[in-house]
Amino acid sequence: VTVQSDSDFRPNFHFTPDSGWMNDPNGMFYLDGTYHLFFQHNPDDNVWGPMHWGHATSTDLIIWEEQPIAIEPDEYGTIFSGSAVVDHKNTSGLGDGTTPPVIAIFTYHDAEAADAGDDDYQTQGIAYSLDKGKTWIKYKQNPVLQNPGIRDFRDPKVGWHEEEQKWIMALAVQDRISFYSSPNLLEWEHQSDFGENMGGHGGVWECPDLFKMTVEETGEEKWVLLVSINPGGPNGGSATQYFVGDFDGGTFTPDKSIAGMKEEHDYWIDFGKDNYAGVTWSNIPESDGRDIFIGWMSNWQYANEVPTEQWRSSMTVPRNLRLKKDGDTYRILSSPVKELEKYFSGSKEVETIKVGGEPEVLASSGDFTSTVINFKIPNLQDQIYLFTFSNEVGDNLKFGYSHIDKEFFLDRGDSGLTDFNDVFGRETSTAPRLADSHTLDVEIVMDKTSIEIFYDNGKTVMTEIFFPREPYEILTADSKEDFELRDLQINQLNF
Ligand code: FRU
Repeated sequence: VTVQSDSDFRPNFHFTPDSGWMNDPNGMFYLDGTYHLFFQHNPDDNVWGPMHWGHATSTDLIIWEEQPIAIEPDEYGTIFSGSAVVDHKNTSGLGDGTTPPVIAIFTYHDAEAADAGDDDYQTQGIAYSLDKGKTWIKYKQNPVLQNPGIRDFRDPKVGWHEEEQKWIMALAVQDRISFYSSPNLLEWEHQSDFGENMGGHGGVWECPDLFKMTVEETGEEKWVLLVSINPGGPNGGSATQYFVGDFDGGTFTPDKSIAGMKEEHDYWIDFGKDNYAGVTWSNIPESDGRDIFIGWMSNWQYANEVPTEQWRSSMTVPRNLRLKKDGDTYRILSSPVKELEKYFSGSKEVETIKVGGEPEVLASSGDFTSTVINFKIPNLQDQIYLFTFSNEVGDNLKFGYSHIDKEFFLDRGDSGLTDFNDVFGRETSTAPRLADSHTLDVEIVMDKTSIEIFYDNGKTVMTEIFFPREPYEILTADSKEDFELRDLQINQLNF
């Protein structure tokens, strides 16, 4: 059995740094035809270490070009997660009148102070770009937000509040989100804190995002707060929960439908083990109007140990978030950005296949390393619908749906290399079905080492990574009672 080499594990169309370690996506903004993605980066090693902001750019969110490191550590510390905004009105005064300044707001992490036992080792700093994000200048009067003596005080996500004409910042502070506001991005005033008795508190809160969304059908506007939590995710380790409510520029008020939201809840951006610290792009033009999200496709439980050498970790496929009113409550739905379809090779077939009794081969293309698969199961019955990707060396990646438990599952226990870490292959992930239609709609995005499954048009999402010894060659479906699988489309992508 050949164990796959490093290059065989490098994704075809999910962003990875050329070399070194990567975690959270940072500072994403769009300007003049270019999407910018920055990321937590240790260029000198393949494990987490002194953080820099790596940088990549794309014109379509799919093909990324890595750029020189954008922001390096300095005397105030290493560069933790944060965000970036385009300061169109030059409220900061940092612009030079030629092009709007782009302002990055990040956390300085002073490791020496932390080691010395100080509590105030995380502060917020600024760097600005006068060439549309290419190069960055540190602000002279950093830090712009001092630490009041709290150990976890990080990951500023800044946006413009149109009604109040001011900047707002969501900041993770232990297991709360603190909101700050500013007229100029330089002076920040504390507004309020959110999170007591709300949502999961099994770990520290990190990487918030706060933005306004419009309910597609009704035009109603709601504010959405994303909060990553580690540990405490629905399937262990790190994951991202969300809250829907209202925000008046100072206080986030959760919608009454989630007023009693408990520790155990089902408001997760993704129920799989590998989508963390995700946030949305800023400065997307109104004519586009999307809320485009990307997450780090790993989990702190094992991120430092996954079996690659030259680089570690990739990002999820960029996703378009939508907000739906669902009975009394609101749900965020995700789907891969439409730009991915540009790379469909056009060889799709639409088929109906009868399944039941024994495994039925849906596809034996021999290559699921750049593939988008869609199908529907109408007339759901009380049984288990099991799907398996497999190869000739016996690796199996299993997933599917139990209509008995109204639960999705994803099992990478036999998917290939798993023993590099104790928990990686140990437990099957599960996720609740949040729709009650009789038809199940499934979209699967496959790369060499990742599966992203969007059920019910993205109401329940499961993203996980795996490391097969050989690429998967066959996809089968199985169930006890016969069923019809409709509209099967297998799109190979041109990468
Ligand atoms: C989340 C996180 C952030 C922090 C960064 C450090 O994964 O822990 O809270 O800023 O990673 O790399």
